[in-house]
Amino acid sequence: MTRTLNEIVGRGRTSTVYALDDDTVMKTYPEGTDPGVITAEAEAAELAYRLGVPGVRCLGPAERDGRQGIVFERLDGQSLTAIAEHDLRRFPQVCRVLAGHHVLMHSRIAPTLPDVRDRAVALLETPPLAGLTEAERAALREQLPALPEGDRLLHLDFHPQNIFSHHGGYAIIDWASACRGDAAADVAMSVLLMTEAQLWPGTPPLKRVLYLASRSAMRTRYLHSYCAQTGMTRREIARWMTCARVLRLGILDVAGERAGLLAGIRQGIEE
Ligand SMILES: Nc1ncnc2c1ncn2[C@@H]1O[C@H](COP(=O)(O)OP(=O)(O)O)[C@@H](O)[C@H]1O
Ligand SMILES: [Mg+2]
Repeated sequence: MTRTLNEIVGRGRTSTVYALDDDTVMKTYPEGTDPGVITAEAEAAELAYRLGVPGVRCLGPAERDGRQGIVFERLDGQSLTAIAEHDLRRFPQVCRVLAGHHVLMHSRIAPTLPDVRDRAVALLETPPLAGLTEAERAALREQLPALPEGDRLLHLDFHPQNIFSHHGGYAIIDWASACRGDAAADVAMSVLLMTEAQLWPGTPPLKRVLYLASRSAMRTRYLHSYCAQTGMTRREIARWMTCARVLRLGILDVAGERAGLLAGIRQGIEE
């Protein structure tokens, strides 16, 4: 395998992904990233693949050109977002794929991953949640562990830019925030991502309007399809929204989302 990083094939909010050769890429992280975070993502990606969730093979953590990262099999297709954008007639299919793959993922159990409720409670002590008062944090320390227990494989960043067409099927990527728990936690997170997450910085105004409208239509279809396939109720999803906001703020902390997420978390604190 080549030792050098070649062209950039993609970027996330935190990562840059380079081609190594025709078949492999390396996802790299900003300097100073805790190596434990990188190892945990690689292990979660390997676990999901072993459990038969459609994805790309993970070849493990690696170092190239002095950069730390993870080597993955290279995707050969486009994201669900790009597929819908290039051919609007495929929009209904994209929504079905999104829901269907989430249902499939949630049929897998992942007892070795961290419990989503513990993850959220731990995030309360991190700088992005420092905007809450100690009393608010104390209330959440009681409230979050009382959410339903579960043992399902959860992705927690499951949105149409993390699912790609690949080898005639689809692949779910980006397992950095994977946990175990109640499937409704992951659905709540996807709803939040398709409602309150900021669009990519620098999106031109006209595209913003179109994206927001299509994202809202996608969320409606996704939810309808997911609930129809599983029997999950809107109420089961709604009870996880506060936890989802804590996770989003604690894991990514996008400056433009902070005030709205904190307000939502405050509203969700039970008397
Ligand atoms: N295995 C891969 N093959 C080709 N491109 C990839 C692969 N994994 C990620 N990418 C590209 O890099 C982008 C960011 O990767 P992702 O894992 O989603 O990172 P982030 O956690 O920063 O969102 C993706 O949107 C995609 O364009
Ligand atoms: Mg991503």
